[in-house]
Amino acid sequence: MSETDKNLKIAVLAGTTRVKRQSFNAAKLVAEVGRGIEGVEIIFVDPKEFNFPNDGNDPEGKDPRYSEITAKADAFFIVTPEYNHSFPGSLKRMLDSELKNYIHKPVALAGASNGHWGGLRAVEALVGSVREMGLVVTYSDVYFPNVDKAFVDGRLVSDLVEQYDKSIKAAYDELIWMARALKTARTQS
Ligand SMILES: Cc1cc2nc3c(=O)[nH]c(=O)nc-3n(C[C@H](O)[C@H](O)[C@H](O)COP(=O)(O)O)c2cc1C
Repeated sequence: MSETDKNLKIAVLAGTTRVKRQSFNAAKLVAEVGRGIEGVEIIFVDPKEFNFPNDGNDPEGKDPRYSEITAKADAFFIVTPEYNHSFPGSLKRMLDSELKNYIHKPVALAGASNGHWGGLRAVEALVGSVREMGLVVTYSDVYFPNVDKAFVDGRLVSDLVEQYDKSIKAAYDELIWMARALKTARTQS
């Protein structure tokens, strides 16, 4: 087995294609913390770089690059902003394009908003959808309230570094535990 095969592959999904997206900084931070964890390979997914021309999960509605990522991922970490008390349509469209590649794999969720709820309602809305896709949701969420002020020039402000390092690592701890357990179970069944 090569070094890469021993790694758990975690796809970190940024949740929006909005031009001035602030939650993208949060998604990049989640990916950066993940890259610091031994035995983990992070695959960063920017929905802007993919193409989903039609609704649904028929072959003509897929992007083969996203299909490949979801097939090889052992776990997912979605970072979603809150749009009208839910998550963005572009994230739903991307997630909808696959189904069997998600089944019995774990997903951790992070929310972001420029209010003080930190995307809580987007995360809660996402739970029902990802459950229907066959993903197994962890409970150690991460929230980024006031995300427009939390980052300056793309970097987390220094006062918040310790807090987010702790909460993001706690989310990864649970996600990795779940990913190992489910990977073992999938290979045995
Ligand atoms: C279409 C749209 C709807 C939004 N709805 C909400 C909302 O329901 N609740 C909230 O706290 N923030 C809402 N916001 C503000 C976001 O929290 C804000 O844009 C934040 O920066 C995170 O999203 P971003 O990655 O698009 O920047 C909304 C923003 C947009 C563009």
